[in-house]
Order: sequence, then structure tokens, then C-alpha cells
Amino acid sequence: MENILVSFDAGVAKVSINRPDKKNSLTGNMYKTMDDAFKEARNREDIKVVHLCGEGGIFSAGNDITSFANANPNTVSDETEVMGFLYEISSFPKPIVAEVSGLAVGVGVTCLLHCDFVYAERETKFSLPFVKLGLCPEAASTLILPRISGYLKAAEKILLGDNFNALDALDMGIVTRIFKASELSDAVKSTCDKLISLPPNSLRISKKFLKSEIKEGMKQRMKEEGDMLWKLLNSDEAKDAFANFLSKKTA
Ligand code: COA
Repeated sequence: MENILVSFDAGVAKVSINRPDKKNSLTGNMYKTMDDAFKEARNREDIKVVHLCGEGGIFSAGNDITSFANANPNTVSDETEVMGFLYEISSFPKPIVAEVSGLAVGVGVTCLLHCDFVYAERETKFSLPFVKLGLCPEAASTLILPRISGYLKAAEKILLGDNFNALDALDMGIVTRIFKASELSDAVKSTCDKLISLPPNSLRISKKFLKSEIKEGMKQRMKEEGDMLWKLLNSDEAKDAFANFLSKKTA
């Protein structure tokens, strides 16, 4: 079974996370497949928009914790698949429409900060549990979230790491709109259809200007966070947190 489903059809690249038995948590191979899919979408003239989503009524429970627990201490963060994917999605020139339901955790939230339309089902549970795991946030979320949500809301979600609901995510500017489950996919399709019908060059230029203010700082912060996160993976705090999560599976 493919853990990432990719299709290119009628102007849309659909990238769907497909590991529902593990709550669509993400491994190195999955980031690599997504990175490759976005690169193909970037290079193909016929593709106007990316639709990012998850199978089984879940967006993503974030990075696979077993992969975190087994990470090589000598890894250079910039050479990891996750960083490759984050650099690609954060600089992707065409519109990205995210369809979010069920769960969005960790990188399942921070990647949304790089999408242009984030449509969420109203029962979706969000969380940024980096500190609880002995880690730090990634994807330049420590730069972007205070800007879009205000410092206090960003600090509450990042420092405590508790769950928050779709209304909170809307209030924080992580989500564009909230939908009933029965309306979500139609709303995503309608926006993809509109984007396909618009002049692609004008869309690209407009997106570039919208993102330009934070472009340089964003890349630098992403690298600083990535370097720190890969160091922290081998800390006692993180190892205890991973062991705690993994012991629940066998309990
Ligand atoms: N990494 C690896 N496996 C994960 C995972 C993750 N991030 N999230 C869920 N899974 C696995 C579980 O270990 C379990 O596997 P098993 O059936 O082999 O035991 C399976 O997915 C189902 O998860 P479960 O915990 O039973 O579902 P739940 O509905 O009770 O809870 C979550 C869902 C997301 C709240 C819970 O799984 C969780 O807290 N996951 C970790 C999220 C996280 O911290 N992500 C990293 C962010 S940096």
C-alpha cells in the first residue's frame, strides 16, 4: 500500500497522506514522496494547484514517533527528508489548498502555515505537542504563528501543547474556513476549480508578493529550528517522551 497517494488530473496535483492505521503519521519516505510530488507539480505546466489532504478522515498525527526515537544522532538536519519537504512546500509557487479533518498534530499543523487555503472539518482536533515531546517546533512556525495569531495565542498553543479545536484554529488564522464534514470536499473542489480557471502567471506573482515579507527570515528560522530539533531528538527529555508514547502501544 502506498503511504502517499499522488495523482495529476485536470490541473490539480492531489497529494493524500494514506497511513490511517498509524493516524497518517509521517515517515522519511513519506516526506520524500510528498517532496517529489510537489516538485513535479511545480515543474508541470498543466498543473495549476496542489490539493493536500489525508485518507481515512484524518489529516496527520505528525511525525512518526518511532522514526524520531530511532533517529541517527549524527544526522545533518538539512539532509533529512522532512526538511526537504518543508523547504519545498514553503517555497512552492502555485496555490496549495489543504483539506483537513480528524486530526492535525505537529507537522500536520505547521505544514498548514505554508498553504494558501486551509479548509477544515469542524470537529478536527489540532495540537502542537513539541514541548511535551522534549522537542521544539519546526517549519518556521515560531516565526509565522506569532505573526498570524499574536504572541499570546501562539505561546499558549506551543508552550502547553494542548489540543485545540477548529474554532480556535480559525481564530488563530491557521484555518481559512470551517465546514461540516458533508460540505468539506465540495468546498475544496470549488476553490480548486476557481484557481484552475484563473491566470496562472498572475496567481504566481501575487502569491510571491504575499509571501515576500517573511521569505528570507522564514528559511533561516526553518534551518535554526531544524538544527535544534535534530539535536533535541537525542536529549534525555525527548527519549523519555518517546519511550512513554511507545510503551503505551505495548501496554
Ligand atoms: N507516530 C507513530 N505512531 C503513531 C503516531 C505518531 N505520531 N500517532 C499515532 N500513531 C499510531 C499509534 O501508535 C497506534 O499504533 P498501534 O495501533 O500500532 O498501537 C495507531 O497510530 C493509532 O493511534 P492511537 O494512539 O491508538 O489513536 P488515538 O485515537 O487513541 O490517539 C493521537 C490519536 C494522535 C492523539 C495519539 O496517537 C497521539 O498522541 N499520537 C502522537 C502524536 C504526536 O505527538 N505526534 C508528533 C508531533 S511532533
